Order: sequence, then structure tokens, then C-alpha cells
Amino acid sequence: MITMTNTKQLFSDTLNRLPVSIEVDHLKKQFRNCVVLDDINLRVEPGEIFVLMGPSGSGKSVFLDLLAGLSKPSSGRLSINQEDLQYVKKTKKYVMGLVFQSGALFNSMTIFDNLALYLREHRLFDEREIQSRVTQMLDMLTLKGIAQIMPSELSGGMRKRVALARGLLMEPDVLLFDEPTSELDPITAASIIELIGYVNKQLHITTLIVSHDVLLAQTIGHHIALLKNGFIREIYTPQALQQSSEPFVCNFLNPTINLNHPRFLPPTS
Ligand SMILES: Nc1ncnc2c1ncn2[C@@H]1O[C@H](COP(=O)(O)OP(=O)(O)OP(=O)(O)O)[C@@H](O)[C@H]1O
Ligand SMILES: [Mg+2]
Repeated sequence: MITMTNTKQLFSDTLNRLPVSIEVDHLKKQFRNCVVLDDINLRVEPGEIFVLMGPSGSGKSVFLDLLAGLSKPSSGRLSINQEDLQYVKKTKKYVMGLVFQSGALFNSMTIFDNLALYLREHRLFDEREIQSRVTQMLDMLTLKGIAQIMPSELSGGMRKRVALARGLLMEPDVLLFDEPTSELDPITAASIIELIGYVNKQLHITTLIVSHDVLLAQTIGHHIALLKNGFIREIYTPQALQQSSEPFVCNFLNPTINLNHPRFLPPTS
């Protein structure tokens, strides 16, 4: 288990800032004539974990890219602390730590250089301080000894932890995760869930996770939304989601398996 008692220095900036809120108003994203997100409205409370769930292809990653500023909305508004991101981005007022599904590490760089990249590029600290921060972060996430190896030598679980380490080193205002537990065995997935929940409890960084992992949503999500056909119908607490009688929700949480009528085959006449 990680401890943060000796790592206050790593998060001094984070701990001195108030957590931010995220507001999404009438957000729409379409590619040519294909509408992926039609009218998304939600609010993420300061310091909470919000989980956006939805079937494969429903637009979760598209949504995250919009929030991270990697693509632009077709219409609608994304705000942090009620400030339209379209304008605040230019001043780099808020830092978004995006933890990609695949880790998105640079394969030609060592783990150390991957982790140091953001701090070096933004000239946040001198090289000695960067060395100290990256080493502390690796120790904290029980990744000691991997600084000089290459990303291709990591297991899937280590890759996800390194991606989290890189996000945390940015001391972000918002942490965004794309499928943090995908492609992991159940135990490793559980350890990543614990880690995200623990980090949130310690640092209160506003966190938005897109995932179809029901266990993740139920155990660490403060609020959960389900994306379907470009809309979010309702925002749930974990208990309300569990008790919902909405057919789409029930089927999403406990899908039936019917070998006689596979969903991806046309119905037999
Ligand atoms: N750059 C793009 N141009 C055109 N269509 C795109 C683009 N990016 C995504 N899409 C489409 O948007 C839809 C949603 O994709 P997205 O990757 O967000 O799904 P997802 O919910 O993240 O799925 P998964 O759970 O499988 O990761 C898909 O139909 C995809 O083809
Ligand atoms: Mg995706």
C-alpha cells in the first residue's frame, strides 16, 4: 500500500489549492454527419470521482478528449469553476492530467524520461528537483527500480501505474482516466481501483473516469452517469444505480447471455 506521509513535497501545490468543479452544458460532438454526443449535461463536484459509463462506441473517449482539450466541441460549453474552457485554456490556468487507456508512454524513452517530460518541458523545476520528484513518485507507487527500463518492458498493470504517476506529477486540477482497468486481470484491476480511490481521498483532486467497469463505478464513484445514444438520462449515486429499474441500466449491469440469439447476428425468421 502506498503512503503519502513522506510525499507532501510532491503534492505541496495540490494541497494548497481548492478542488475545482467541472460543468458540461449542452455539449455536442459530431464527425461529419455522425452525431456521437448529442446533448450532454453534467456537473462534477469539487474533489469527487465522477464515473461516466457507457457501451463500447458510445463516445466516452470522445468526451474525454473534449474535456482534455484534445478536440473541440461542435457546440456547447465545457467549464471549470464556471469558467469556459475555451477561454481559460489559453492562459493554462487549469492543468488536466489525462491518463490514457493504453498509457500512451513514449516507447523510445525510459520510464524516467517519460515521467520527467512534462516537468522539463514546462521548466517547472531544476534537474535535481525533477530527479527527486520522479524517484519519490516511483517509490510511492511501488515502482522502485524501473526508472531506466523502457515502456515495452512493463506489464499492463505497471503501465497503468506509470501513466497515473505521470498524471500525478503534473499536480493537475483535474484527473481524467480513460478505462483505467481495461485489459487487466481482476486482482490488478482491483489494485488500480484502490489506488485511484486512495489518491482521491488523500489529495481531493476532481476526478473523471470513463469506464465500463461496474466494480470501479460502484466502489469509488461518488456519482455515475450512463451514456446512451449521445445523451445522459440520469446521474446516479452508486446505491441508486444498483437499485435502478431502468431496463438499459439493469441490462448494462447484468447483461443476459442468450446463445440462441446473439446480439450481433440478424434475428432468425
Ligand atoms: N476522429 C474521429 N472521426 C470520426 N469518428 C470518430 C472519431 N473518433 C471517434 N469516432 C467515433 O465516435 C464513436 C465513439 O467512439 P469512442 O472511441 O468515444 O467510443 P468509446 O465509448 O470510448 O468506446 P470503447 O468503450 O470501445 O473505448 C465511434 O463510433 C467512433 O467511430
Ligand atoms: Mg474508449
